[in-house]
Amino acid sequence: MAVDDVTFTIEAGETYGLLGPNGAGKTTTISMIAGVLRRDGGGVDVLGEPIGSGGSAAKASIGLVPQEIALFDDLDAVENLRFFGRLQGMSKRDLADRIDEVLEIVGLSQRRRDRVSTYSGGMKRRLNIAAALLHRPALLILDEPTVGVDPQSRNQILDSIERLGRDGLSVLYTTHYMEEAERLCTRIGIMDGGRMIAEGSPGELETLTGRADLESVFLSLTGSDLRD
Ligand SMILES: Nc1ncnc2c1ncn2[C@@H]1O[C@H](COP(=O)(O)OP(=O)(O)OP(=O)(O)O)[C@@H](O)[C@H]1O
Ligand SMILES: [Mg+2]
Repeated sequence: MAVDDVTFTIEAGETYGLLGPNGAGKTTTISMIAGVLRRDGGGVDVLGEPIGSGGSAAKASIGLVPQEIALFDDLDAVENLRFFGRLQGMSKRDLADRIDEVLEIVGLSQRRRDRVSTYSGGMKRRLNIAAALLHRPALLILDEPTVGVDPQSRNQILDSIERLGRDGLSVLYTTHYMEEAERLCTRIGIMDGGRMIAEGSPGELETLTGRADLESVFLSLTGSDLRD
């Protein structure tokens, strides 16, 4: 069993961190939330509406940045965004303006006409974030968005998520980096072995475990070092 009876709530406008060692079940959980993977029990509500198996308004209010980059290497940034925007049912007119906006948010306006195959890993990740933002989701889900990313892109990503959070976007953020969780997340859920083993604000988790920082909180709860 990859995920066992995991329950949590993300408040509107909150950035929630989902942490856990490799194989904890984070991506499986995210895939079920986004409707990418069929679950054999339980339910997911977004903005009070259940996510079903088909298309729905609730599903359309989610933007997903998957763990593996999902872009067309042979297309440039604008072409990729047009493709994903059309999949979301956006009109050409709406898309034209929105593409400029999301490229600005992730700092790729200058590279808009370059093929993705010429991008660094960090730039690809940023474009994937732009694709997830296109249709103005209420909940943005990011699955380890800073893995294999150069420091400049990493800062860019963290800055833009912070800004989006301030603007009222709800965010589900998965990371192996405690300093990112500390900086971005108001609340954190720690998963291990498919279960949610602890949840709270960074301060609450520190009090709960009697540890001084998130790094040792995590180590004491899961017995594993996130950086391994
Ligand atoms: N399609 C699948 N078939 C069988 N087992 C799977 C499948 N996908 C995931 N698993 C297993 O489910 C568990 C949870 O995997 P998952 O990818 O959700 O973990 P994760 O927390 O995202 O890990 P990571 O930090 O490495 O990305 C793991 O034991 C994994 O091997
Ligand atoms: Mg994963």
